[in-house]
Amino acid sequence: TCGSTEAMMAAMMTVTDPGDKVIVFSPFYENYGADAILSGAEPIYVPLYPPEFDFNPDELESAFKQHPKALILCNPSNPCGKVFTYNELKFIADLAEKYDTFVITDEVYEHIVYAPNRHVYFATLPGMWERTISCSSLSKTYSITGWRLGYIIAPPNIIEVAKKVHDFLTVGAAAPLQEAAVTGLRFGDEYYDDLREKYTEKRDLFIKGLNDIGIKHTVPQGAYYVMLDISEFGFESDLEFCDVLARDVGVGAVPGSSFFREPVNNLIRLHFAKKDETLYEALNRLSDIRKKIPKR
Ligand SMILES: Cc1ncc(COP(=O)(O)O)c(C=O)c1O
Repeated sequence: TCGSTEAMMAAMMTVTDPGDKVIVFSPFYENYGADAILSGAEPIYVPLYPPEFDFNPDELESAFKQHPKALILCNPSNPCGKVFTYNELKFIADLAEKYDTFVITDEVYEHIVYAPNRHVYFATLPGMWERTISCSSLSKTYSITGWRLGYIIAPPNIIEVAKKVHDFLTVGAAAPLQEAAVTGLRFGDEYYDDLREKYTEKRDLFIKGLNDIGIKHTVPQGAYYVMLDISEFGFESDLEFCDVLARDVGVGAVPGSSFFREPVNNLIRLHFAKKDETLYEALNRLSDIRKKIPKR
């Protein structure tokens, strides 16, 4: 597929008909909202509660009781950096079985997971292969976001339908790039260890810098995003805060409200998939943020 972006869209169109419901954890990667609109599905949002971004088991089961066709699982999560534990996944799997629901996974950060957290592929849980549509991408693992290469793994009966959707959506991803990417697919385990190590160093560097500045923030278990808590600045709008941050501090961030269904506007998302010198420069600019952005 053309990235996980197309994989997710094709997966949604494969398992849902207009009017079907799909469970989406909130905060969520923005595309899921658009995917639902484009496929005519209706999202049922289930909150993940900071700071650990846990779900409430009763709230999740209530969502399943509305007979959704599928649950969307972003693991590790963009934007909150959550890596679902085996027990959490098992709880979701039991509900998927009980309520006969598909699970569409978005696992683009499968190899960017920080110890001691561990990524568990949802499709490997007992009984889940038959009902899981696993979507992933080469974008993050091989740092080739512009190549637009992704894929879907699912049982043959589901793949048969997904192939038809894929054919009508894009026909295919660029063939020469698919051939070139085989080089990456042949890398040994050391490549993935090295990737994890590099991102762990970047995470630690960035988190330490934020700790030194003393701003409240999340600590990602996976992926490369940190959410800052901007409550202390007294802004009503996180969007306006991001404007001021870009203009007066020189650091770009995404307003957290774009990821939440709930009215959350005290979080902004930064990412650290950058050269070390860029991260140091960002931390340097943020170091006197309280002077540059006076409290309201
Ligand atoms: C959770 C998640 N899914 C999908 C994508 C898009 O990936 P791709 O480049 O494979 O379309 C991103 C990119 O930021 C992402 O964070």
